[in-house]
Amino acid sequence: MTSTNSVPAHVGIIMDGNGRWAEKRGLTRTEGHRAGVRVVHEITQASVSYGIGYLTLFAFSTENWKRSYEEVNFLFNLFVQTIQEYLPQLKENSVRLNFIGDVSSIPLFVRTALARSAEETHNGNKMVLNVAINYGSRNEIVNAVRTIIKLEIKDINEESFKNYLYTADQPDPDLIIRTGGEKRLSNFLLYQSIYSEIFFTETLWPDFTCEEYYSILEEFSHRKRRFGGL
Ligand code: IPE
Ligand code: IPE
Ligand code: MG
Repeated sequence: MTSTNSVPAHVGIIMDGNGRWAEKRGLTRTEGHRAGVRVVHEITQASVSYGIGYLTLFAFSTENWKRSYEEVNFLFNLFVQTIQEYLPQLKENSVRLNFIGDVSSIPLFVRTALARSAEETHNGNKMVLNVAINYGSRNEIVNAVRTIIKLEIKDINEESFKNYLYTADQPDPDLIIRTGGEKRLSNFLLYQSIYSEIFFTETLWPDFTCEEYYSILEEFSHRKRRFGGL
């Protein structure tokens, strides 16, 4: 069965290239992250308008702890600031914020802000915005195994396994976009992405525009998805 699709139910974005964007301009890496936040808002807004049900943004991976203390600390502060600043807009647009990743090991002030914003937007019914913070697919899968191991073996199958991932009850991503030119998934949604259409663009995240986003969505709508069939 082939399938063409108009609007993806779920889009995942690997927002890469902030550091290089800044370095090209003689700015500090942190200024690149700040510039990236503006794009987050535009793309979130564009996704709601386009009718996308789930948008997952990769903000911090389980491997990003390898960066300098200053950069990691800056990023966590930026997440909290950004959430606070844009909460009214998210509520107005009926966006439900949801955080995916291992929050148990992020600083308490961040965890508290995330929990509060998720609670404050829990009535949002237009789009779910998953923000992946301290997210890694291997961590997600191993955590799922730790829980599922308590079930009876006969109850463990591909469908039930999905319910133990951070994206339980959500459709798999139809489309994954990576900005910044690298052609890899870097531990993003590995279990969920088996049939995702993947788009790589050279554009650095702070330069990514709604126009480019719409053109990718347009190209996506013409891709033939076979899911292993004919
Ligand atoms: C992506 O941009 C944002 C995060 C990983 C937090 P980078 O910071 O990886 O930017 P580059 O890849 O160094 O340009
Ligand atoms: C992927 O970007 C993670 C995020 C966008 C949060 P990285 O910059 O960490 O990926 P690698 O290290 O180039 O694979
Ligand atoms: Mg990078």
